[in-house]
Amino acid sequence: MSSSTYTVYYGSLVTPKTLTSYDASLHALVAVNSHGVIDWVVYDVQDSLVQTTLLEKGCPDAEVVELKDGQFMMPGFVDTHTHAPQLPNIGSGYQYELLEWLKQVTFPMEAKFSNVEFARKTYSSVVHRIINQGTTTCCYYGTLHLDATKELANIVHSLGQRAFVGKCNMDRNSETYYVEPSWQSSVTDTRALISHIQNLESGSSGIPLVKPILTPRFAISCSDQLLSSLGELAKSNPSLHIQTHISENLSEIQYTRDLFPKCKSYADVYDSFGLLRDNTVLAHAVHLSKEEIELVANRKAGISHCPTSNFNLNSGVAPIGKYLDRGIKVGLGTDVSGGYFPSILNSVRNASIASKIIAMQNRGQNDNQGGRGGFANDQLSIATLLYLATLGGAEVCAIDQEVGSLVPGKSFDAIVADVRDTAGNPALWSIDAETHDLTGKDALEGMLQRFLFCGDDRNISDVFVQGRRIGGKSN
Ligand code: GUN
Ligand code: FE
Repeated sequence: MSSSTYTVYYGSLVTPKTLTSYDASLHALVAVNSHGVIDWVVYDVQDSLVQTTLLEKGCPDAEVVELKDGQFMMPGFVDTHTHAPQLPNIGSGYQYELLEWLKQVTFPMEAKFSNVEFARKTYSSVVHRIINQGTTTCCYYGTLHLDATKELANIVHSLGQRAFVGKCNMDRNSETYYVEPSWQSSVTDTRALISHIQNLESGSSGIPLVKPILTPRFAISCSDQLLSSLGELAKSNPSLHIQTHISENLSEIQYTRDLFPKCKSYADVYDSFGLLRDNTVLAHAVHLSKEEIELVANRKAGISHCPTSNFNLNSGVAPIGKYLDRGIKVGLGTDVSGGYFPSILNSVRNASIASKIIAMQNRGQNDNQGGRGGFANDQLSIATLLYLATLGGAEVCAIDQEVGSLVPGKSFDAIVADVRDTAGNPALWSIDAETHDLTGKDALEGMLQRFLFCGDDRNISDVFVQGRRIGGKSN
């Protein structure tokens, strides 16, 4: 490849390595090729050695983009669970628990998306907003409407975000104004959405950024015939992703058990219809039984941890450490509008608090047997939080070979975080050259923490997907 086809980013870098470790370098070079893929990364290159390194790498003329002090690159966030049509509802209805909240607040808003014009306008601002929060991959639920969900996919595609877009399957147990007329039409519309998305053109790498995802809303909303047809569809398309909700709320669990008396558990409902597999994203998983944890682990399905929503809707605290100990893939989700904010930074904070609640309740206990061990009764560390927000999310979406960390061979899906005081966020006011030493490696680790806990979109300068800048503060 000729050297001019590279863009080389030079500056501080943070990237997850394992659930308990990450790499941080103050002076890293990251070379991105014309397909938006990272070709090579070199850590700890002093200013005076940049040109020599480029020469050694055979690209002396590459365009070098230099980050400023107080800025660092990290992988973009993966939001493993959100509802695009619910953004207009953020901040409302938190006096309710799940089933009443769906009925009183959520379904009335989602029903408005029968109007395609309304959908287009709303989704356009929704997707812009989510991108500027640093989310480079997003798992979107649309509504039950085919046309509106096609619009959502078109908008995500045109804005260049990596995403999974699904149309809710829901042919029963909803309000009369917001339910699909039959299981057959639900399947027909699902197939139509899949072909629509598969026909969107691929990006420069030839890899499609937007992919379809089967979205049986939850077991309650789907008849047996519908679940079994979706299972068939999944079986004939092993690479087709699946997303749904599981064990979020105690009344929901009881209702599900009443509807599927032959199934051993909530998780067994999905499993018995062939919907539990290594590219299934299970949102919430607050109250899984031991047997369900085993089943999810054995099927290699992933869990989307949505702590903000779990607090808001009074659902409970998901035992994430236990799932990690069992080797289950875990990522973070915003679950707007159960969650009140479309940023994974907010999920990071609430995941931290959720883990501390569990740690407080289990002080002194240690049931870390088997599996990876060590997470169950402890608070999540910064390394683990970083991992869940990025690489863990990519694992849950089964795209961790492509994205989730800034290493050679993966796509450059990245953000530039900016914690200088000029970024304009008063929560970070004291980070400047006078009060903080921004030159040491510890400072970079400090900057990461401060960004994760106090940063917001004012501190995200650039958002890249597949090497292309698609958002950031100046947008
Ligand atoms: N379960 C079924 N639908 C929904 C939804 O829209 N949000 C949440 N949080 N849980 C659900
Ligand atoms: Fe949800």
